[in-house]
Amino acid sequence: MCGIIGYTGTDDSALDILLTGLNGLEYRGYDSAGVALANDSLDIYKREGEVSALEAAVPEAPGSVSAGIGHTRWSTHGPPSDENAHPHTDEDGRVAVVHNGIIENYQALRDELVARGHEFTSDTDTEVIPHLIEEQLEAGENRQTAFRQVVDRLEGSYAVAAVFEGSDVIYAARHESPLVIGLGDEGNYLASDVPAFIEYTDQVIYLEDGEFATLTPDEVVVRDEAGEIVEPSIEEIAWDPEDAGKSGYDHYMKKEIHEQPRAIRNCLRNRLAEFEDRVVLEELDDIERPARIHLVACGTSYHAALYGAQLLREHGIPTQSFLASEYRAESVAVDAETLVIGVTQSGETADTMRALREANGAEATTLAVTNTVGSSAARECDHVCYVRAGPEIGVAATKTFASQQVALAMVATALVDDPDPALVDALSELPDQIQQVLDESHARALADAYVDADAYFFVGREYTAPVALEGALKMKEITYKHAEGFAAGELKHGPLALVTADTPVFALLTEGSRLEKTLGNVKEIQARDAPVIAVTDVPAEVERYVDHVLEVPSSHPKLTPILANIQLQLASYWVANQLNRSIDKPRNLAKSVTVE
Ligand code: F6R
Repeated sequence: MCGIIGYTGTDDSALDILLTGLNGLEYRGYDSAGVALANDSLDIYKREGEVSALEAAVPEAPGSVSAGIGHTRWSTHGPPSDENAHPHTDEDGRVAVVHNGIIENYQALRDELVARGHEFTSDTDTEVIPHLIEEQLEAGENRQTAFRQVVDRLEGSYAVAAVFEGSDVIYAARHESPLVIGLGDEGNYLASDVPAFIEYTDQVIYLEDGEFATLTPDEVVVRDEAGEIVEPSIEEIAWDPEDAGKSGYDHYMKKEIHEQPRAIRNCLRNRLAEFEDRVVLEELDDIERPARIHLVACGTSYHAALYGAQLLREHGIPTQSFLASEYRAESVAVDAETLVIGVTQSGETADTMRALREANGAEATTLAVTNTVGSSAARECDHVCYVRAGPEIGVAATKTFASQQVALAMVATALVDDPDPALVDALSELPDQIQQVLDESHARALADAYVDADAYFFVGREYTAPVALEGALKMKEITYKHAEGFAAGELKHGPLALVTADTPVFALLTEGSRLEKTLGNVKEIQARDAPVIAVTDVPAEVERYVDHVLEVPSSHPKLTPILANIQLQLASYWVANQLNRSIDKPRNLAKSVTVE
């Protein structure tokens, strides 16, 4: 949510590097963008709209610029506009600031500044920062101290970076919002996330909460909250820059849907001991069988959590899944006997992080199931199981959902004494089966046929119920059409009133998820004239009851829903494509939601 980029180097290519970085971060917010170039004076360019609008506004030959910061915004305080776009400056234009997160005490700070005569040009919470820095400079503080003192006054969650006129130093700080530093040969980089600079370097330092960093072209200094210099650990990112590109696909989402066989292979690698019918998750070695498990997550990750919770319950461990935003340690039984699993692609989602922090506070054992190495979830939980899906740039989660489902299936298997050997075998076959779905799907033709529908409904039971919710979420977020997912049995308790001839219903009819019962619900749907599209591994059993079939190979009943979801992803993608939607950057959304 909002993307920060910074570069300071020995060459003159700061503007190019900042724009490349902003393109790589646009999934974090895309309602406006801006850069501050640190010359003798600060040159600020900012525009409402996507990064392309900013690119059109910057000079082709900006002269020699070796340092600067940039930002792509997802609005919180004030609507998208040129004025509200970052960077923001003090009144004299001596310092420029970009910020991600929310400054909870900004109104008090702003009132204070206005009372002292400051004039503001934006609605943002961010703008208080440069004004406060200006005051500190006027009071005689040096830049570093001024920056630090102001950051110390901020309440809330933030990542913030500043540059000053006539200087190539970047100052940065983080508190509950990610910041990563890239170490290059020609200079150093700062960003909210690695895709911003992966083209230039794979050597990174993840800033910890409360740390401050000072970047110059040839040095990075990190200090802790007390101002002491710390020796940060340098990590190597195991990505190819190509992983973060579109590789010839029209959209990242399409590329990421098609990357699922590889993502699942990576997730499983070295974790299946097939000859022993076991899952080997060394990450869980130290976890005793818990008295109970809580899964906390949001959005798509919550759907994966619902799926994982069913698997864990089947293994006899009392398990509940919670929307992270609704999780309160004081009102659920969470204690040292509880394992709390945070399911989060980004590892930075504010709601999930708050829930995990409350669980840590209650002395629960915490486990992050995340895609993001070095993320807050990975660092703050007691244990971490990476899903290894690779970078996901499309705002709509696809490959990470499948990877989370597989990782949770492995977690459930690893936590029990008597794993199901058939499940272990079936896991190893999943990547090829996903490939088969991708190769043979005719979801596109169906999407074309039903692109004008009034709404889309999705129904499933047991293991397919979370997939029905996910199918609907995907459809609504990228097509902007009404879509709802239901446990199939619930339809007759109200939602059936919405079903008409213009509301196609995707029915997940896979073996092992009480198919016969769902078929009964299908009849109720058809009696209301709605077309029914079955997603099924047993077409011969269901085709006479439905209007269309999207087939998936047979797998273990607990895993077939993972295959069924691929068909739903494709159906949503093709409806959105027909409607010419902004598939990778749906309106109003951003990938990493770092505000509560
Ligand atoms: C939907 C989507 C979101 C995220 C949610 C949680 O396609 O991507 O619903 O799943 O914002 O994000 P993470 O998994 O990063 O915690």
